[in-house]
Amino acid sequence: MADLDSPLTLPSGLVLPHRIAKAPMTENLADADNQPTPAHERLYARWARGAAGGLLITGNLMVDRRYLERSRNIVADRHLDVVRLRRVRDAAADSPLIAQLGHPGRQTNRFVARRPVAPSADAGAVRMMGLFGRPRTLSVSEIEAIVAGFGTAARHCADAGFDGVQVHAAHGYLLAQFLSPHVNRRTDRWGGDVRGRATALLDSVRAVRAATSSSFTVAVKLNASDFRHGGFTEDDAEQVVGMLVEEGVDLIEISGGTYESPALFGEVDGLTDADPSSGPATHKEAYFASFARRARTRAAGVPLMLTGGIRTREAMVSLLADGGVDVIGLGRPLAIDPDLTAKLLAGDPGRELPRYTLPTVAGLAGESEWYETQIARMGAGAEPDPGLHPVVAAARFVGGEAVRGLGGQRRRARLVARP
Ligand SMILES: Cc1cc2nc3c(=O)[nH]c(=O)nc-3n(C[C@H](O)[C@H](O)[C@H](O)COP(=O)(O)O)c2cc1C
Repeated sequence: MADLDSPLTLPSGLVLPHRIAKAPMTENLADADNQPTPAHERLYARWARGAAGGLLITGNLMVDRRYLERSRNIVADRHLDVVRLRRVRDAAADSPLIAQLGHPGRQTNRFVARRPVAPSADAGAVRMMGLFGRPRTLSVSEIEAIVAGFGTAARHCADAGFDGVQVHAAHGYLLAQFLSPHVNRRTDRWGGDVRGRATALLDSVRAVRAATSSSFTVAVKLNASDFRHGGFTEDDAEQVVGMLVEEGVDLIEISGGTYESPALFGEVDGLTDADPSSGPATHKEAYFASFARRARTRAAGVPLMLTGGIRTREAMVSLLADGGVDVIGLGRPLAIDPDLTAKLLAGDPGRELPRYTLPTVAGLAGESEWYETQIARMGAGAEPDPGLHPVVAAARFVGGEAVRGLGGQRRRARLVARP
């Protein structure tokens, strides 16, 4: 029976010394050419200091310079400075480091790209404060280029000494858009039934495998559900878990939701585990614990990481003991206390986090940005500031994205066009 301090060896051979991992959180700390910076190095050194050698997963690195999730994501295309990325790897010291790779699809804000792309244009723009433009449908050759981009990015990460990559297929970004019948209305091999809708994800996983060695860890972050009518369901997700097992992935992280239905932050009614047999602790926290149990039956030999709302040591221990979970993912708690992992391993009971929700849909931006600002503080060599006002953080986000996103459009287009 696994406890928090039990080691775990992934199928790739990567050894995790204990069961707590830092979940991916976007850093938005790259330079104007979307290259890694000393701020990334300070940040990962800080997280490694409190991780007791545990797994760190980076925020999403982009595979296509034209479409970013944040204006200052690292872009892992042919222009990436691998020497600088290696410095980030080295800063993480004895922690295994996995880079998350993603493409935002229609969830690219309008400052970064006025016309985002999507599997099909039918679902229209992401409805959120007018921040997103109306997408156009990707052509087959564009999809193939994106899939190849996952391979290129993975190779760069391997060259930089990373232990693996995680393909981001959750939270409503491009590969999750392909999985969702609400967004993906294609009738070619990239759409249709769940197998067709999973093609972009499975091909991306294969591209990563083909570009790296068998000891390089390949993980996937998958939604339990989109939490929207007509979207990607738990039944779909269970089948996709089966397909990922067939592909031989080394770790599956479970999350849920999209920008329009932000279950990942617990912002959907009735989310917490309704299954009383899962015990009192997980009943109150761990948003996707009931799906983890379903996924377990499909993912016999593949370790499962569960992320979302997990806060107390008691819940973590119970998820590992009989919840079918192998790794506990922590996001926001580590943005506010980078030493929390070491504390939990030493017996700290953990605690609820304050909520920073603003009224209306701006609340999502407010909460996420509050944590992103804490991450930026650590990148600058400071400690998190729990007293920061969420309105200040939200305003900083919109202002910063507008200036940097619009300012970077031409610069990024020039690099893409360079032979
Ligand atoms: C500031 C911030 C940035 C995030 N960026 C990413 C990301 O780049 N990739 C990703 O998969 N999830 C991202 N997430 C979601 C987290 O990985 C996690 O799924 C979510 O915060 C729920 O876990 P928690 O309750 O432990 O915070 C982000 C969360 C926050 C707060």
